[in-house]
Amino acid sequence: SESLLVAIDGPSGSGKSTTAKLLARRLGLGYLDTGAMYRAATTEYLRRHPDGASAGEIAALVSAADIVCETSPEAPAFSINGRDVTDEIREPRISAAVSEVATNLEVRRLLTGLMRGVIDAHGRRIVVEGRDITTVVAPDADVRVLLVADPAARVARRAAEVGDRATASEVTDQVLRRDKDDSTVSNFTDAAEGVVVIDSTFLTPDEVVDRIVALAGA
Ligand code: C5P
Repeated sequence: SESLLVAIDGPSGSGKSTTAKLLARRLGLGYLDTGAMYRAATTEYLRRHPDGASAGEIAALVSAADIVCETSPEAPAFSINGRDVTDEIREPRISAAVSEVATNLEVRRLLTGLMRGVIDAHGRRIVVEGRDITTVVAPDADVRVLLVADPAARVARRAAEVGDRATASEVTDQVLRRDKDDSTVSNFTDAAEGVVVIDSTFLTPDEVVDRIVALAGA
């Protein structure tokens, strides 16, 4: 059937994952969380090099890694070198270290290639969420959305998600410091030409999905 590649970018807490999963279910598409791929690489990095490693060592480790992504919106799952890391990738220590891996340009090149392989394996019928999907991974996507929300709303959403697994200041740090760290590698906050900005601050996930479905003409 026809290609329906939906690219959704946005910062932490913008509602990307919730929206992308709902949209994939509604349209019967696959779902790829590219942040989870950077997180999976980070679990392997911290496991093998608890005391840190050079950029070259991190890139070599990712280059040799076997990263497998389960792309069902119902139960997305990730493994690296045969180890299921679906739960581990959400731990605060991974969120705290992921920017070091994500700012490694060789790692970005490797994971971008992997992402494009997943997209092709789905016959380009997939929702892909991340930071650089509309600009680098799939600038030719059928629908390109930048999801934004006020920082206070993003912190509140992340806090509700993590519950008592993190303190308020840890959550604020996770969201706001990661905005800053992520911005050192490229511009994740301004929409590229042709990308539709949706502000989710005052919208429910279903309302955001309705808008993207309308853009997709589906
Ligand atoms: O979306 P999530 O918060 O899980 O992403 C984790 C991290 O992965 C981000 O903070 C960012 O450093 C990195 N990332 C990226 N490019 C993407 C997706 C995520 O650099 N396409």
